[in-house]
Amino acid sequence: MYESNAYERLIGVIRQVGRIATGADLDTLLTRALDLCINITGAVAGTLYLYDAQRDELVFRVVQGDESGTALRGRRFPADRGVAGATLRSDTPLYIADVTRDDRWESRLASGSALAIQSMYCLPLAIDAHPVGVVQVFNPARANVDDRETPLLLQIVGNTMAGLIEKARLIDEAQQREARQHALLEIQAMLTTTLDRNELLHLIMENARRLMNVEATSVWELITDDETGEQHLQSHVATGDHGALVTGIRVPFGQGIIGRVVETGAAMLVEDVEHDTRHYQAVDEKSGFQTRSILCVPLHAPRIQLGPERGTVEARTIGGAQALNKLDGHFGREDVDLFVAFANLAATVLQLSQLYTETYDLMMGMIKAMAGAVDARDRNNQQHSQRVSDFSVAIAHELRLPSAEIYHVRIGSLLHDIGKIGVPDAILDKPGRLDESELTEMRNHTVKGVAIMGQEELTRLLRRELPALLQHHERLDGRGYPHGLAGDQITQIARIVAVADVFDALTSERPYKEAWTADAAIHFLHERSGIEFDADVIAAIERARLQGQIVTQLERTHGVTGATL
Ligand code: C2E
Ligand code: SIN
Ligand code: SIN
Ligand code: FE
Repeated sequence: MYESNAYERLIGVIRQVGRIATGADLDTLLTRALDLCINITGAVAGTLYLYDAQRDELVFRVVQGDESGTALRGRRFPADRGVAGATLRSDTPLYIADVTRDDRWESRLASGSALAIQSMYCLPLAIDAHPVGVVQVFNPARANVDDRETPLLLQIVGNTMAGLIEKARLIDEAQQREARQHALLEIQAMLTTTLDRNELLHLIMENARRLMNVEATSVWELITDDETGEQHLQSHVATGDHGALVTGIRVPFGQGIIGRVVETGAAMLVEDVEHDTRHYQAVDEKSGFQTRSILCVPLHAPRIQLGPERGTVEARTIGGAQALNKLDGHFGREDVDLFVAFANLAATVLQLSQLYTETYDLMMGMIKAMAGAVDARDRNNQQHSQRVSDFSVAIAHELRLPSAEIYHVRIGSLLHDIGKIGVPDAILDKPGRLDESELTEMRNHTVKGVAIMGQEELTRLLRRELPALLQHHERLDGRGYPHGLAGDQITQIARIVAVADVFDALTSERPYKEAWTADAAIHFLHERSGIEFDADVIAAIERARLQGQIVTQLERTHGVTGATL
């Protein structure tokens, strides 16, 4: 009777081992293997460690039957420590009746578990002499302690599972490597299709978060205050639930972990943030996020010098990237290498966007300065170019132009009257009507604008803008100047600026006339819609006006908003 029972148990276990193996990934396999060992021994709980041969360490991989034990997942200890270490080096299952009296037992390796452990079975997992891991099951049932077949069954399970686990582990590693490579390639491909800084940084950090299996990742940019010269770090993009909480938070240079990494330019790994005084607690306080572990790497980028002296100068640290709370254990060598690769991509993106922003700011600054210089010469025409630009952009938005087009409209309209630089003061400031020759000279400002801005390099860069300078006084019916172009011969940008320009001229005071009301100006334009002015553009400025987007000079100085007057 007893014999046949044992036989049935054996067959049962072999069947279960067979079932465990089919189509399971590593985590499922490990969980099932541990459950089976708990089952065979009638234990209350158990732990499975995997052996990390590279570091000669044991890693808590699965904990079952002990709620508090899940926090142990991923914790490591040297492979020569504890009962687990002793089991790894033995080739048979080990039974310990009272661990509290076993001096190999190092309960602090498992601190964090609430379970009162007395007895345990320990099972080495090995392929030949090559260790794979260890299973421990706690407080096994009495009936399974003194019998002969429990250790035997454990050994069968151990021998079979070791091979399966090793195989699954290799597949798992290969899959992870492949996923990492795939993500890097995907990001690299993305770099050629979008230049949106935040979109790119988000993609990079989200991939890093997923592949490293961490709770959150973030990118921090080093910002220098223009006035005080003080430096701080500002988070731009943060992923995970932590993301929304941490975005926009500032950390002073040199403080916290991120501040130090940027200061020293060296990566930092802190496994136990709570007990590490270097952590900038204010971040967690503000965000309500509980940081346990941090991997933080610097973002390096070369300083780039433009002009004929161009070239790269010294590398500098422009920010840092953080990965918070490794979910399946501890940060390893691979995580560091991977995160450095992601950080390099993020650094390139930040660098490009900084370079772009600087160039754009420089260019816009120069253009506004030039347009301002023109407006300043004309006492009655202050800020004319800026307002014409505001109106033109509002019209372009109403016309649903793509953002690349709106960009050209913004610049072309700012520069539309730049040729007035070449018109003599006597004509420009004349307090009355211009005579015929003065008018001819005045009208020449369109051609002069192109001559001034059409310098070698600019001709190409301002290809889309120059028609705004040349053609903003052309009219659909062909009665405009300088060339008397008609209809579609006039570029869209010029048709937009023409309407914006006349609207502002009419609603502003001139030496030769009073300022008109916005309604009168709109009425004037409306009457000429489709005749002198583009009907779509007129319809657009009318809509924009109703939405309060078009505010005249007088309304601005009196602080009234558009639609109400
Ligand atoms: P602006 O004063 O900025 O006017 C731009 C355009 O708005 C004018 O182009 C014209 O199309 C329209 N506009 C402005 N005021 C009136 C107006 O009272 N009635 C009508 N129907 N349209 C108006 P335009 O005429 O080619 O003039 C170009 C620039 O030449 C003007 O820019 C202004 O700086 C100057 N200008 C034109 N006429 C006179 C003038 O009689 N006296 C003086 N001092 N300057 C003039
Ligand atoms: C040991 O095996 O001695 C430590 C591991 C554990 O506490 O479970
Ligand atoms: C730090 O770097 O010390 C704080 C960053 C964080 O917790 O997000
Ligand atoms: Fe003009």
